[in-house]
Order: sequence, then C-alpha cells, then structure tokens
Amino acid sequence: MAAQCTDAVDKPTFTTASLPWRTIRLPEHADPRGSLAVVESGKDVLFDIKRVYYLYDLPISTVRGAHGHRMLEQLIIAVHGQFEIELDDGFHTARVRLDHPATGLYIGPMVWRNLVNFSAGAVGLVLASAHYDESDYYRDYPSFLAAARRLGNGTK
Ligand code: TYD
Repeated sequence: MAAQCTDAVDKPTFTTASLPWRTIRLPEHADPRGSLAVVESGKDVLFDIKRVYYLYDLPISTVRGAHGHRMLEQLIIAVHGQFEIELDDGFHTARVRLDHPATGLYIGPMVWRNLVNFSAGAVGLVLASAHYDESDYYRDYPSFLAAARRLGNGTK
C-alpha cells in the first residue's frame, strides 16, 4: 500500500507543493532474487546525505521523534514493517503512514514530527543532511510552534 498523506480539516487547504514534507517513491529493482531500493543524493533527495541512523527494537506503543529541526532535512523510510509520522509545520498537520521499503518521507526544516504506531519488528531508516547537532533541535513544542509561526514557513 502506498504512503498516505492527509491535510488536517481545520487548517486552510494548500497544495502539496507548499508543504515542507512529501512522500517519495524510490527507484526499485525487483527480480526473482528479491528487491532492491535506491536513494541517491541529488536525484531522489536533493540534500547531501551526511548521516544515516536507524530505529529498531521499538516497543509498539513508543513515540519517537517529538521534536523539530531548525535546518535539518531528512528522508525517513520504513525498511521493515510500518509506522506513522505525525507532522506539523505550525500551520498544517498531516499523518503519513510508511509501510513499504521503497517509499520515503522527505521532511524539510521546521517541522515537528512524532513517529508512532510501530508494527512489531519495524525498522525506521533515517537519512539526514547534517551530522548530529543538538543545537538544531526544538525539543519543546510550544517553543517550536512560536518559532514556526514567526518564520511563517506554512504561509508560503
Ligand atoms: P533522540 O533524538 O531521542 O531520537 P529520536 O528523536 O529519533 O526519537 O535520540 C536518542 C539518543 O541518541 C539521544 O541521546 C541522542 C542520540 N543521537 C545521537 O547521538 N546521534 C544521532 O544521530 C541521533 C539521531 C541521536
């Protein structure tokens, strides 16, 4: 099943192009030996991939993420199993389900994200545009929301 993205009903309607996130179908090579999906910088994602990390051994009721980034861009892939990502740029919200290893969710700067509803054994792969830098994080939602609304990214 393809990833789903739904705009919140209580916010203005914008085109998908105006949102700082989007799902990306990755090039896939399937043959009788199995399947292979590819992510290339400058092709499938526009940012240079500087860091890769992955989430695993996840309790199904866990919540990961729960933060926003000032500058970081990421591509998140459910390389095994499935999970959902709640997105909020201060103006729009969405919930995206990732359930296929050849589908990625691009998330740009200034987006709060909660990763939730992990299936048993799910593995989340994250490709990031920068090395780990705690100063790039908003860990507090009210501070994130105030900054996002001040910057006005969602009004573009
Ligand atoms: P955390 O930010 O809570 O993970 P997530 O937001 O994906 O749920 O990170 C958990 C711990 O791992 C925290 O101590 C910071 C550390 N960490 C790194 O050292 N490098 C990294 O690239 C990441 C993403 C986290």
